[in-house]
Amino acid sequence: MKEKPVVEKPFLTDVQELRRRARQHIEEGAVTEGYRANRDTVVKLLNEALATEIVCVLRYKRHYFMAQGIHADPIASEFLQHANEEQGHADQIAARIIQLGGSPNFNPDGLTMRSHSEYVEGQTLLEMIKEDLVAERIAIDSYSEMIRYVGENDTTTRRMLEGILAVEEEHANGLASFLADMDKDWKTRAR
Ligand SMILES: [Fe+2]
Ligand SMILES: [Fe+2]
Repeated sequence: MKEKPVVEKPFLTDVQELRRRARQHIEEGAVTEGYRANRDTVVKLLNEALATEIVCVLRYKRHYFMAQGIHADPIASEFLQHANEEQGHADQIAARIIQLGGSPNFNPDGLTMRSHSEYVEGQTLLEMIKEDLVAERIAIDSYSEMIRYVGENDTTTRRMLEGILAVEEEHANGLASFLADMDKDWKTRAR
């Protein structure tokens, strides 16, 4: 069998070229000519994610303050923890939008239109948990899609989104196990 000749690919553009490119358009901050994604689209997607996170903060805050009853303590503190983590996501996303030369949209007008998830108040603890689980599942789907879209073209954004996605999955898991526990409790009591 004939061996294929190994073609050495240069790992990086040569140093002189990298330096020259870095000096061009320095007003663009972190976005260099090597940026391969469509920046406008990424900023638009990130602004939708920002709106989603803000709506989630508001919904979890409402649920935290409304949570009452025998089951409420651990659940209320879970709501509060989620609210704080969603706030952290919103901050990360806003910072990335700035790095990409965009502007983060914090305008309350149209917030729920831009958001993927809904603001549902929920009348009982059970309804609140269910609505939060629905919202988390929406977030999981939309972050997964964004990660696939960004792919290899914007590694920093992708890594940030992957980190957020992992936390949304934890949130969904936590809520699902509360639902399962409540269901078990009621079945035991009904006997
Ligand atoms: Fe989040
Ligand atoms: Fe979440």
